[in-house]
Amino acid sequence: VFPKILYFNSIDSTNTYAKKAADLIPSDFLVVADTQTLGRGRLGRSWSSPSSTGIYMSLCIRPNISLEKASMITLITAMAICDAIEELYNISPLIKWPNDIVINSKKICGILTEMSCDMDGIKYIISGVGINVYDTEFPDDIKDTASSLLLETGTKTDRAKIISSAIYHFYEDLDTFMQTEDMSILKSKYESRLANIGREVMILDPKGEYPATALGIDETGALIVNANGKIKRIISGEVSVRGI
Ligand code: BTN
Repeated sequence: VFPKILYFNSIDSTNTYAKKAADLIPSDFLVVADTQTLGRGRLGRSWSSPSSTGIYMSLCIRPNISLEKASMITLITAMAICDAIEELYNISPLIKWPNDIVINSKKICGILTEMSCDMDGIKYIISGVGINVYDTEFPDDIKDTASSLLLETGTKTDRAKIISSAIYHFYEDLDTFMQTEDMSILKSKYESRLANIGREVMILDPKGEYPATALGIDETGALIVNANGKIKRIISGEVSVRGI
């Protein structure tokens, strides 16, 4: 079943709107906008959201899972976006763990997952996705690291087609995930798209910055790295991974 869609020409942020609407709409729903005036990125950054060049959308879901499993929804979202791009553009994007999607090492999509919980567990999860589709120019601070589907593939594809394919693949993988409530079945699929695998990454954690080699993910979605001979689990939110 495709979720109910709320479409806006212009909105502050589809994530912010979805958070407000989640208290009023009991089912899953998708907020889509042509432009955002206050698009939000991770770590309090802003997300440049020019009119008609990108996809700005937020999917609100209500899976019956415990709090510590919520971060896996980000990984499932990233896989769904890759599936949609591969299907429509015949190119295989890669995921920079946990939630950036890159083509030719340039970021073309970011994901901002937010949630609300109470004593009974998760009330809802909002998976916010920004995809650079037709952009040909970028703000100065990201112009060396960002790109768009058009620039990397030379192809123009209807944004609605990308959205519907991504939503379809998202629910397909969510169903698989819910069978075991972990990444055990999806692990190899995710790893096949993982840009970091076998490569050196910089881990930033409260104790400082150190290099490590990314080995893959475990069934909880944590990144497994080899740091100077020690195998470590990196949990989303605790550290960020630089490199590539
Ligand atoms: C990142 O920092 O990489 C995450 C960017 C997420 C941007 C999307 S655009 C749609 C949704 N609404 C927002 O305000 N942010 C997310």
